[in-house]
Amino acid sequence: MSDKKASNQMWGGRFASGPAAIMEAINASISFDRKLYAQDIRGSIAHSEMLAETGIISTADQEKIAHGLNTILKEIEAGTFEFSTRLEDIHMNVEARLADLIGPAAGRLHTARSRNDQVAVDLRLWVKDECFRVAEALKGLISAFLERAEEHAATVMPGFTHMQAAQPVTFGHHCMAYVEMFSRDLSRVRDAIERMDESPLGAAALAGTSFPIDRHKTAKALGFREPMRNSLDSVSDRDFALEFLSLAAICATHLSRLAEEIIIWSTPQFGFVRLSDSFSTGSSIMPQKKNPDAAELVRGKTGRVTGHLVGLLTVMKGMPLTYGKDMQEDKESVFDAAETLDLMLAAMTGMVRDMTVNAAAMKKAAGSGHATATDLADWLVRTLGLPFREAHHVTGRAVALAEEKKVSLEKLSLEDLQSINPGITQDIFSVLAVQNSVKSRTSFGGTAPSEVRKQIRTWKKRIAKA
Ligand code: ARG
Repeated sequence: MSDKKASNQMWGGRFASGPAAIMEAINASISFDRKLYAQDIRGSIAHSEMLAETGIISTADQEKIAHGLNTILKEIEAGTFEFSTRLEDIHMNVEARLADLIGPAAGRLHTARSRNDQVAVDLRLWVKDECFRVAEALKGLISAFLERAEEHAATVMPGFTHMQAAQPVTFGHHCMAYVEMFSRDLSRVRDAIERMDESPLGAAALAGTSFPIDRHKTAKALGFREPMRNSLDSVSDRDFALEFLSLAAICATHLSRLAEEIIIWSTPQFGFVRLSDSFSTGSSIMPQKKNPDAAELVRGKTGRVTGHLVGLLTVMKGMPLTYGKDMQEDKESVFDAAETLDLMLAAMTGMVRDMTVNAAAMKKAAGSGHATATDLADWLVRTLGLPFREAHHVTGRAVALAEEKKVSLEKLSLEDLQSINPGITQDIFSVLAVQNSVKSRTSFGGTAPSEVRKQIRTWKKRIAKA
């Protein structure tokens, strides 16, 4: 009996003694897969109901099993459940406790099932739930941006390429660029949900089972669209986890670009935005400082999320079909990426909602750096019929003259401009003003406030339905 006690209760039959401590340490996943307890219990209840409905186990046993599992759920939620490393993982911890609670009927739960399909269904359920959480969080962030965009549809700021002021745009337009990005993230989440909405349960170890199970029933009971069609694929596929990590990494990358902009915008040199006190910290030594820590952490945590994607891709690349214990390594990546992304989304939504926009500083910057040079060139094309290349050249000379006179382009006199091209008239000053420059860019998707407002209206409707 002493051997039996030391060896694993579930598969210990053929082992003479318990695993060495190192083996136990490398093998056990309970420290992290306990997070799957609710999904594990849900999956087991659905499985047991199906077993009873198909006559594989008795209704009396099923009732005991379901009652026991619900008791375990309560114990775990109350914090009174004792997890054991010796029992390796969440599946065996739950099943062993079930045996304590209901006796031999517990042994019938694992009929026509294996931990291979069990863990696959548990993790899928978890990832699917997380995808719904991410979708909600993204909708919150998009709404925050839509509000800021509406408020600032006509607030002029410099648009940048190469981090150099390029052409004036509006802050509303800039906000709407993020609405597009995060909406694509949202659609990636929805696509991923669609693809992962298939149940692996009932694939058993890998080959299916000779018991007359009904996989459609369990799939439906667990909220999946249908069962997966191939038992080998069911237990060996981790695409759903990889897709989650990919969409998380892309979304984190978007958040990181935004974080980087917020960090730059909130420097005293730019002064475009001011973060609220709740999303910044002071320095313990330099009293004048207000640091954008939350934005920096969003930028920093992106490395972690992307790392998890690369980590799991690397785990999976060497896996022959079907299951291998390597795949136990899927969980920590997924859990940490999820927790990190949830936090990043929440922090960013807060920052976007709370930050104060300094429209005057943005406008001032928009007017510097000869940002309306393209407008001058376009005017020469439109009004004087110059070929664009020649107009570009003339404008270049005007910029050089402005630099020489140490003024901005729109501060050159009409005489100055006419010395470069005599056809230029007073009319030119209307396009050189930044406000007019943005107003004129009415092409579809352009920065004109009228266009930006159209986009805001469309997105508001779409997000309300999403
Ligand atoms: N803890 C394991 C995992 O996370 C469960 C599946 C174990 N299956 C097995 N055949 N050893 O992957």
